[in-house]
Amino acid sequence: MTFHAHNPMTDKLLIGDSPQIKSVLALLEKYALSDVEVLIQGETGCGKGVCARLIHQLSSRKHHPFITVNCGAIPSGLIASELFGHKRGAFTGALFNHAGFIKRAERGTLFLDEVSDMPPDLQVSLLHFLDQKKILALGSDKETDVDSRIIAASHIDLLQQVESGKFREDLYYRLNILPLNVPPLRERDGDILQLANYFLAQIHTSQAHQFSSQAETKLLSYHWPGNVRELKNVLTRAIVLCEKNIINQEDLGLPEQCNKVPACSLSKLSVENAIEDSHHNMSAAARKLGISRTTLYRLMKKYQINPC
Ligand SMILES: Nc1ncnc2c1ncn2[C@@H]1O[C@H](COP(=O)(O)OP(=O)(O)OP(=O)(O)O)[C@@H](O)[C@H]1O
Ligand SMILES: [Mg+2]
Repeated sequence: MTFHAHNPMTDKLLIGDSPQIKSVLALLEKYALSDVEVLIQGETGCGKGVCARLIHQLSSRKHHPFITVNCGAIPSGLIASELFGHKRGAFTGALFNHAGFIKRAERGTLFLDEVSDMPPDLQVSLLHFLDQKKILALGSDKETDVDSRIIAASHIDLLQQVESGKFREDLYYRLNILPLNVPPLRERDGDILQLANYFLAQIHTSQAHQFSSQAETKLLSYHWPGNVRELKNVLTRAIVLCEKNIINQEDLGLPEQCNKVPACSLSKLSVENAIEDSHHNMSAAARKLGISRTTLYRLMKKYQINPC
């Protein structure tokens, strides 16, 4: 199975023709053939959820459930029972047997979003599940086998969380067998306008809309800290505000001055990727990141990145 630029499945889910997104697709293709855990990292709104779903849909598990659990959204006291399930009578109020998310994803995929938010005791239980593929529901004395594949995602650098003692090192290495780093939108050559036009066509209105050339320039020069989600929201608003079906720069409502990314918000990964994509040409890497060469060198020193 090979991905082409016009694979109907990827065209529908993951828009973008940049070399960066093509590398992501090439990895997804390989990961979909495997049953091993995947760890997806990238800035907020860059498409981690889309990638997780795509891996599932391209895998042999596609006819079974894809279940998303946002680890940060479940109250910490409930996560164990939500993930592993409970037996009737396990605790006050447990009136029925309850299948947890892991069990409900049987033969399918469980997507653990914002995995860095998982409380420490649950990290231990998850590690046990990954090693044994067995779960112990609350109130049960017998483990049961479960065949569900785990894909985890984090918008926070998980290795940094390990270094600061907030995430278990053993679990990190267990999850990070197949890593997938989704690049920020500002680093994907050519994807901004393709995505923008895709969203314009998707947001149903009675008439077709177009961008003025200033609006296009603005879309290309803005640093998109909220990535694809921010682009989609900006366009949804612009369509409402614009007149005569032409979207002008003002309709985008993007800040006047701050076109460039604040250097402090650039992750180590973004800097490394930009250097690699620019074949270690520092001026080109700085341009790609929207920062000066001096700032790039400062960031490289901070992150201890070797220039060659
Ligand atoms: N390449 C893409 N093609 C089409 N739509 C995309 C793409 N990337 C992201 N989107 C859309 O942008 C929005 C945000 O994507 P998604 O939820 O996957 O981001 P995320 O990285 O999981 O964000 P968060 O860190 O906040 O969970 C969604 O509406 C998604 O459908
Ligand atoms: Mg997400």
